[in-house]
Amino acid sequence: MRDRYLMCSPEHFEVRYVINPWMQGNVALSRNDLAWRQWHGLAEAIGAVAEVERIAGEPGVPDMVFTANAGLVLGNTFVLSHFRHAERQPEEAHFEKWFRQQGFQVQRLAPQLAFEGAGDALLDRGQALLWLGHGHRSSAECAPALASLLDIEVEPLRLVDARFYHLDTCLCPLEGGYLLYYPAAFDADSQARIVARVPAARRIAVTDADALEFACNAVNSGHHVFLNRASDELARSLAAHGFTLHQTPLGEFMKAGGSAKCLTLKLNELRRPAARAAA
Ligand code: ARG
Repeated sequence: MRDRYLMCSPEHFEVRYVINPWMQGNVALSRNDLAWRQWHGLAEAIGAVAEVERIAGEPGVPDMVFTANAGLVLGNTFVLSHFRHAERQPEEAHFEKWFRQQGFQVQRLAPQLAFEGAGDALLDRGQALLWLGHGHRSSAECAPALASLLDIEVEPLRLVDARFYHLDTCLCPLEGGYLLYYPAAFDADSQARIVARVPAARRIAVTDADALEFACNAVNSGHHVFLNRASDELARSLAAHGFTLHQTPLGEFMKAGGSAKCLTLKLNELRRPAARAAA
């Protein structure tokens, strides 16, 4: 089965306010024509190996292009986001409508919890586990709430660098149980829990330079990995682990603090069988 991704066309994309450090100094400086070209470049690259579904952008919500933040998909359930910042909250109704129309069962967490969907909640690709980033956007209490709502084990990770404010800016589970990540974005305890959960041979730690090019903000479909830019060293490491790398420039979206992964939301997320408890 081919993977399916949701992308939102960038007709209303711009940097209009500042809610993360990348947007600082970039208000009104993004170029919509170049953003379109970059967005099409990504959509076409992914479209060569997977299905890309589109939702139209809406006026007044320039960050709606970042569909990763719409919510979290697991099977036929869609857990709708509730954005921390007022600027993005109007996106919720647009995404809710689309997911209902597509036949998803739409759920919400308790209204006092901020939750930014698959920007902060990432399913591992080697074990039945949901990684949850908190500290900037999603509330830490989303971890127990998602565990009971979805009946899945959740590993909360505390994010400590404002430039890596969503989990998907600094961690990307890859097929085969690999984990691409930037250790310095996490507190020491979270780094230790990542090490405890993922064997050394499956961890691919990136350098500061790759992290700042949003290399961890990658889309992974089968053995294909799509991202903005990777150093030669990272490209060699991904190839050595069996991945085919596609670099596609996304500089206009980086002015808003987003890149390849943020611009997509995987729609076919199947539940992975939990490891059988030892008898
Ligand atoms: N400007 C957006 C924000 O600050 C960017 C979101 C990027 N999305 C992501 N999944 N990391 O919310």
